[in-house]
Amino acid sequence: MHDISAIQQFLPCPTPKAWIEWALEHPEILLIDHAHCEKKAASTAINLMFRYVDRPELLDALSRLAREELLHFEQVLDIMRKRGVVYDHMTPSRYANGMRQHMRTKEPQRLIDILIIGGYIEARSCERFAALAPYVDKELGRYYKFLLKSESRHFEDYLTLAQLYAGEDISQRVAFFREKEKELIESVDTEFRFHAGVPA
Ligand SMILES: [Fe+2]
Ligand SMILES: [Fe+2]
Repeated sequence: MHDISAIQQFLPCPTPKAWIEWALEHPEILLIDHAHCEKKAASTAINLMFRYVDRPELLDALSRLAREELLHFEQVLDIMRKRGVVYDHMTPSRYANGMRQHMRTKEPQRLIDILIIGGYIEARSCERFAALAPYVDKELGRYYKFLLKSESRHFEDYLTLAQLYAGEDISQRVAFFREKEKELIESVDTEFRFHAGVPA
């Protein structure tokens, strides 16, 4: 099994037990929102490829990443179909927007921030799959463990790109978003989502 200790160290806190219990109470939303997250991950990567056409390392890494996310999307849809879960629209959780609201607007700082935020989203997804795996059924547990490997590589890809294009040490900026991430993960959310905080 893939070692996720690097990811757990990178993140400010583990997923709260209350979130895991919340997830187990909402197996259908968990799958539907997971499908949305995979699709959104692909679309975020493709948007970056349109915006930063002059960054060859970004184009290579994110094109591959987007293909993997779309593959995950198809795999989640497949699991949903087998279980009779109907795909539907879903409001996004406040997590990604909560992170992006702190994004700087000037380039290249804007790009650096997007990449660091991308790293956090991937790392948190990875950590949540690992946290859920022991509690869900066998098929889903096996699938979550399978996802750990690619999601942890995506986390590394985003951070590597951020460091590459920053041209200076990014640890302070990473630490800044680490604090924001902790707030989002440990505060109360009204609706259950894959990246939600805790229930009231
Ligand atoms: Fe994915
Ligand atoms: Fe990913």
